[in-house]
Amino acid sequence: MCGIVGYVGGRPCRDLLIAGLEKLEYRGYDSAGLSLLEDGRIESVRAVGNLSNLRAAVADTEDRGAVAVAEAEATIGLAHTRWATHGRVTEENAHPHSDEEGEVHIVLNGIVENHSELRRELITEGHEFSSETDAEIVAHLIEKHYDGDLTGAVRDAFAELRGHYAFVAMHVEHPGTLVGARNECPLVLGIGEGETFLASAIPAFLKETRDVMRIDNGEIVTIDADGAIVTSADGEPRDRETEHVTWDEDEAERGGYSTFMLKEIHEQPDAVAETITDRLPELDAIDLSELELTPEEVRDLNRIIIVACGTSYHAGLVGRYAIETWARISVEMDVASEYRYRDPVVGPGDLVIGITQSGETADTLAAMRLARERGAHVLAITNVMGSQATQDADSVLFTRAGLEIGVAATKTFTSQVAAIYLLAGWLAQSRGTIEPDRMAELIAEMKALPRKIDETTDALDPQVKAIARSHYQGRFFFYLGRHIGLPICLEGALKMKEISYIPSDAYAAGEMKHGPIALLDETTPVVVVATESPVLEKVLSNMAEVRARGADVIAIATEGSVDVAETADQTLFVPRTDWILQPILAVIPLQLLAYHTARCLGLNVDQPRNLAKTVTVE
Ligand code: G6P
Repeated sequence: MCGIVGYVGGRPCRDLLIAGLEKLEYRGYDSAGLSLLEDGRIESVRAVGNLSNLRAAVADTEDRGAVAVAEAEATIGLAHTRWATHGRVTEENAHPHSDEEGEVHIVLNGIVENHSELRRELITEGHEFSSETDAEIVAHLIEKHYDGDLTGAVRDAFAELRGHYAFVAMHVEHPGTLVGARNECPLVLGIGEGETFLASAIPAFLKETRDVMRIDNGEIVTIDADGAIVTSADGEPRDRETEHVTWDEDEAERGGYSTFMLKEIHEQPDAVAETITDRLPELDAIDLSELELTPEEVRDLNRIIIVACGTSYHAGLVGRYAIETWARISVEMDVASEYRYRDPVVGPGDLVIGITQSGETADTLAAMRLARERGAHVLAITNVMGSQATQDADSVLFTRAGLEIGVAATKTFTSQVAAIYLLAGWLAQSRGTIEPDRMAELIAEMKALPRKIDETTDALDPQVKAIARSHYQGRFFFYLGRHIGLPICLEGALKMKEISYIPSDAYAAGEMKHGPIALLDETTPVVVVATESPVLEKVLSNMAEVRARGADVIAIATEGSVDVAETADQTLFVPRTDWILQPILAVIPLQLLAYHTARCLGLNVDQPRNLAKTVTVE
């Protein structure tokens, strides 16, 4: 979730670029940098940490002989905030990146999947790299294809890349031109009077211009001070109108959504794609070489213990089904605040997985430390580079959801679930408990998840809104599920409590008859997760029992499930996928239900009431 800002025009742009980066800070980053072109040379300044570190580095540049940066007169430049994916958080890995001669500079968001093979080819051809990033490859590729035509060189480089990314390039021989390209990650132009901005999001330039031009997937754009030429990847011209945005700055930070929570719900396809894409480099194999587990350790594992809090705990519950089914290792689950105090039996041969999006939740950290002291291998699944969990673990698997501002965990949850699917598949492949054909099927389904998440969100948002309007005055929401559907019910009920403050409970549907059924009457909305699973028939019987009490059943079903639709009062269909992967889609209507219910009640979903987003280390 990095940020891009580029400028070409008549004004000195150094401070405009840094101001643009400030407006993208909400996306999260761990390092930043900029490049300016003046008098036939390009100078770069990069710094680890926040923008005040970049500003300090800029202030120091005169001593380092970077005149253009120090004098701030350049009128063309690029800037970037990086959230590390490939390579550690270092100045060398921060963007912009360039070729050896420093003639081409680029900034890139997203991931180039085929970076290893391209890097190998380029090294054979004599290129030398100065960073560990996938992004640097793009600068070298453009240099390789360059014969005086920058747009042509970008087009040729673009044709060789796989993955999801957006990048912008600047060349020393073209002091009035920037060229951008987009594949999945956003890129947008701001058209001013005699100046043009190119950025990953509108807030970067909203203070300067409100005339915006969007770049679509597979398009290449060449900008100068007078505007832009947009073409397809093979050079066909594309007509593009400018739109005038009327958003205020707050709205712009929310990408035009009314709240951060809704924006983050809509960012889930991207967050999941960032988490999985480059770890699925082949059709039938998962690459988690970042983990410090040897094949022997994986083969000899006794069991897995997952510890986590809140939403992260629910992600672990989903993961348990995938790990046990695919890798055939027994998985125990515990909430970290219980585990740490119960003198657990744990030691060598156990893999303890701590899931924490922030990497700073005190109970989870304490549980991980305890397990490590007793000799278990501790793996952290976290969203934050450099967080405490990354220091306290033997191995780290990063989710790549970007910064989450809304108090409710949404995109961090789906990214955690995606990361655990990868882990489960990798364990299965390493232990030989899954056939290659089955692995290939699962990988194809995993790759389709971002698209299906997107379809689910778009299709269900209006339907869920209508359901929320009919039920927001309810005193109590009940969630029922079995098997793989149960963790999603727990997560749905948690979201409802956390965001709309309506009492809600989630129950294993088979347990309903042992007491909770007494709670149900015609005033109770009952949300049932009834997606494809080995226990769907049993869930259908539970739905019939609920309806017999007069309660209103809102079912989440796999598309085409006629039986569910016939049994429920209302059915929200999610796309079909492998049944173990179904929860990542089923949670979306439950996130939306909590969201719209809270909005019907006029609540501010982005602000915590009694909750802290991050529970810091004690
Ligand atoms: C807080 C948040 C929850 C989150 C939990 C665990 O309670 O409100 O949304 O799930 O902490 O956070 P972690 O950062 O460890 O995933």
